[in-house]
Amino acid sequence: DKGNHRHFMEKEIYEQPEVVSHTLSHYIDFAEGRVKLDAAQIDFAALDRLAMSACGTAYYAGLIGKYWFERFARLPVEIDVASEFRYREMPLPGKMAALFISQSGETADTLASLRYCKDNQLTIGAVVNVRESTIARESNAVFPTLAGPEIGVASTKAFTCQLSVLAALAMIAGRARGTLSKEDETAMVQALVEAPRLFNEVLNAIQPQVESLSRELSRFKDVLYLGRGTSFPLALEGALKLKEISYIHAEGYAAGELKHGPIALIDENMPVIVIAPHDRHFEKTVSNMQEVAARGGQIILITDERGAAATTLETMATIVVPAVNEIVAPMLYALPVQLIAYHTAVFMGTDVDQPRNLAKSVTVE
Ligand code: F6R
Repeated sequence: DKGNHRHFMEKEIYEQPEVVSHTLSHYIDFAEGRVKLDAAQIDFAALDRLAMSACGTAYYAGLIGKYWFERFARLPVEIDVASEFRYREMPLPGKMAALFISQSGETADTLASLRYCKDNQLTIGAVVNVRESTIARESNAVFPTLAGPEIGVASTKAFTCQLSVLAALAMIAGRARGTLSKEDETAMVQALVEAPRLFNEVLNAIQPQVESLSRELSRFKDVLYLGRGTSFPLALEGALKLKEISYIHAEGYAAGELKHGPIALIDENMPVIVIAPHDRHFEKTVSNMQEVAARGGQIILITDERGAAATTLETMATIVVPAVNEIVAPMLYALPVQLIAYHTAVFMGTDVDQPRNLAKSVTVE
């Protein structure tokens, strides 16, 4: 049932405040203002490395998780798409655990990667949405995303719920390993508590602007997404979402890679969507935006109030969201990214919930 939404994808985008809140409450004790250590089931303090693998959008969630585990828990993360991971024959030294991320819990390559790690005696954790899935069944520790059934082929709410779980796990690992201060933990928990209300506000506030921007975007054949830090995987996710449902060719790049190739493509026919919260990467990203502008590229900037105030560059659109703690930013910035893809596809008249050639669950290699 789509309720009063045109598509399941739209419904699922708007469900995010609720399902993220629900998911977070599984891992965070809001009353105490701290993560639930016993939700971990993995002895993070005993590890010296973590392997992660997944496909598609779940892989991008994992990439964001890697930044968090390394930064907050000082735990090095090896991550790869499952179709590569399963055949890499990577050495798996003893003090390593493996984490797999999957909405369906049935993705063939992810499952094969899991079995490879299991055969090598690693402890297996799984971030899954379908509790009764094969991946959940074969794991030692299951970390559920409580997104509810996701019907739209393009993943939206499962992604932000995966980010919620990974954020909490990275904080739990940080606390277990003594690398996350109590003050930082409290500040992050506070930010996560407030996140769902902000998501609601943002979804409502930006909708008209995104809709008119999407009308313009639907005229283009190519779109480039740029970001640094955790906004880099989000750029990859934005490009994936747009190509999946609107069939517009899109690519995501680390902003710093611009001058190593993609800058050759910049002209007025390829809008550049820049995901840039006013964080420690902001100045660098602005200089990449200047490089785009100098070559006649049109910029769509997604940032916060400080970011918007700090740049004088002319943009095709500037989407402003509230400033948030870095643990919340990828989830919050996912919302405009999802809405841009959704509205562009709606304007183009594609089958948003059932895009051509795609299946919701990829159970063959
Ligand atoms: C993108 C999308 C796919 C899935 C991928 C993994 O919108 O839906 O890229 O994320 O096929 O699927 P799961 O998470 O079920 O393993």
